[in-house]
Amino acid sequence: MIDYDEMKQKLQSSLSPKRFLHTLGVVETAEELAKIHGVDKEKAIISAYLHDCAKDIPEKMKIRFCKEFHIPLDKWIEKNIELCHSFLGAEIAKREYGIIDEEILNAIRYHTTGRKNMTDLEKLIYLADYIEPNRNYFQGLESIREYARKDLNQAMIFALTNTIEYVKKNKGILHPLTLEALEDLKSKKGDQ
Ligand SMILES: [Fe+2]
Ligand SMILES: [Fe+2]
Repeated sequence: MIDYDEMKQKLQSSLSPKRFLHTLGVVETAEELAKIHGVDKEKAIISAYLHDCAKDIPEKMKIRFCKEFHIPLDKWIEKNIELCHSFLGAEIAKREYGIIDEEILNAIRYHTTGRKNMTDLEKLIYLADYIEPNRNYFQGLESIREYARKDLNQAMIFALTNTIEYVKKNKGILHPLTLEALEDLKSKKGDQ
């Protein structure tokens, strides 16, 4: 059984105050979405707490840890090191926080890029990260918030499309996993 107080304390000391506040918002939202969509509440809460646990590690250390933990630095991650924080986060969750549940680890691992065949827990964490109450306003935020409470797949299609458009507009680095996630969800839409 995980000691929540210990986990929170450890997180608070490794995240900036702003990031910790964001994390609490993600936990609150993940708990609410888990209840609505019948997803395991404890797994949702733990994944939400730990999703950004590696985000505030300095860049050079991120690269060093990725190499040490054999996390592949593909060409997209190399161009945008920030993309590695979710893959590294899963590894830190395992090593530093003692998480062994693969569903939780994958929810952390894919919360930034998404991927094909996402589980409901993975979708829920991706969305909770996107819509938590402390997020700054962006166009489309309110509709994604609304959809997240009704239909995880539809909300994911909206959120991924929004991200892809944003990254393209700002000439950022789009990871292929994100495109694959969107294509996969769109192709399944007709099957439901
Ligand atoms: Fe993140
Ligand atoms: Fe986050």
